[in-house]
Amino acid sequence: MKYTSVHYTPSDRMCDLVSTHYAVLPVMSRFGLALGFGDKTIGEVCGEVGVDATTFLAVINLMLDPAYLPDIATISVRSLTDYLHNAHRYFLDFRLPSIRRKLIEAVNCSRNDVAFAIMRYYDDYFAEVNRHMEYEEQRVFPYVEALLAGAPADDYSIEIFRRQHDRVEEHLSELKQIIIKYYPMGGTNELNDALYDIFTCEEELASHNAVEDALYIPAIERLSAERPKRGGVGRETLSSREKEIIICVVKGMTNKEIAEQLCISTHTVITHRRNIANKLQIHSAAGLTIYAIVNKLVDLSELKLSNE
Ligand SMILES: [Fe+2]
Ligand SMILES: [Fe+2]
Repeated sequence: MKYTSVHYTPSDRMCDLVSTHYAVLPVMSRFGLALGFGDKTIGEVCGEVGVDATTFLAVINLMLDPAYLPDIATISVRSLTDYLHNAHRYFLDFRLPSIRRKLIEAVNCSRNDVAFAIMRYYDDYFAEVNRHMEYEEQRVFPYVEALLAGAPADDYSIEIFRRQHDRVEEHLSELKQIIIKYYPMGGTNELNDALYDIFTCEEELASHNAVEDALYIPAIERLSAERPKRGGVGRETLSSREKEIIICVVKGMTNKEIAEQLCISTHTVITHRRNIANKLQIHSAAGLTIYAIVNKLVDLSELKLSNE
């Protein structure tokens, strides 16, 4: 990886970033940014597809300069969660299986005990990465979703994640050393190719971990420090009429349908919805759905039935 102390800004051209640092290509695809952007700036390319440019640049600048200090207050937790989820899929579904295929081609397990041990080491490592990322998918991301909806779970905190979050790339470095030092029949193009991928994957995993440690965890801590105030006040001040409106919204009803059911004007429904958004800091129906489920305003089965 080519490190730099130059930090990119929204007014820099996207083609300059990619041409200088090709290692950013996987980051772009995880944010849903396609190639073919001509001379547009980073801000323009992100803006066109609704990607939060500040969060994208925080990831890029941290990747290119491990000493980079981002402004955590400007990070979009939603955008970063989506990015990390896509990165997990990249490692588990594409990158690690691809290296495994190359390793099998490069080493002959039937005639070499070291080769067999290397493949076993790799498979154990793959399983370890899978456990690491599945924990984040199953435990951390749902906690963050609930936090974004204004109602974090009582039995979990991001401090637990911070304490147990380990450096998942370390064992890959060990495997690299084992192959370099002890594999008796090294030097083939196939093995060199697999080794090269292990080197770059180790860097990608280290960068992924750095994003979680330096951006994601601090951003969630900041969010959770704010939420009890916002969420608490919001829950206290939600009127019973506003709760009724939330229930209607998550059931998929239009403003007109809500107005008819509650015998009020459409204008009043819109005003209530604006007040709800301000109180809860939730602006989407999906976010309100999570809020309504967590706060037991609706039952999940009720929502499923209403969608059928
Ligand atoms: Fe992760
Ligand atoms: Fe992680």
